[in-house]
Amino acid sequence: MNLDFSQIVPWIPFMLEGIWVTLKFVSVCIVVGFFLGTLLALCKIANIRILKAIADVYTSIFRGTPLILQLMIIYFAIPQLTGYDISPFLSAIAAFGLNSAAYVSEIIRAGIQAVDKGQTEAAEALGVPYKPMMLQIILPQALKNILPALMNEFITLTKESAIVSTIGYLDLMRRAQVVGSELYRQFEPLLFAGLIYWVMVYVLTQAGKVVERRLQYND
Ligand code: ARG
Repeated sequence: MNLDFSQIVPWIPFMLEGIWVTLKFVSVCIVVGFFLGTLLALCKIANIRILKAIADVYTSIFRGTPLILQLMIIYFAIPQLTGYDISPFLSAIAAFGLNSAAYVSEIIRAGIQAVDKGQTEAAEALGVPYKPMMLQIILPQALKNILPALMNEFITLTKESAIVSTIGYLDLMRRAQVVGSELYRQFEPLLFAGLIYWVMVYVLTQAGKVVERRLQYND
């Protein structure tokens, strides 16, 4: 075994730039996935059959096919159909945001349904309209319970983001591969990238714990 980390030293700034590139699109995807997922969850629990059906079909498609395939379709296949090129950044946001929404919608649906039915009944008895009831009574309680599951989703998203390296997006993973082929040494850059991913997930986990503690304190 002849590991030589000194060779990747000149490449460290190049690789560290990948953190920002990765974080940039992952954070957008988390927001897109969360809001679209909430919307889908509301459709799923609504008493309107067509909305339910649309949300179910959506989840079935995006959870039932590989994320890498969705990314490839958006990046390579849609330009063929429409004649318009789509940037790797936008493709990544679309694929990851749409995919994550499918998972988030199930997490939020479960969270809403786990809130005691009496809460809805009490709100209705008091004449609270649907929107404030959802936004101010049901969803805050649901969010508190599903926070660990949501954190899981955000961690998955952060790590799965490495898939964008397949469409040439210069994220952390792709940078590690570039450095590997420049140096003819793969182990060191990959190990370094692994360490960075681990740190990112660690920070995310700690942030999740802080939020969780805050919410418990509110009790
Ligand atoms: N590798 C899985 C897939 O290809 C993961 C999808 C993303 N998972 C998630 N929870 N957002 O479908």
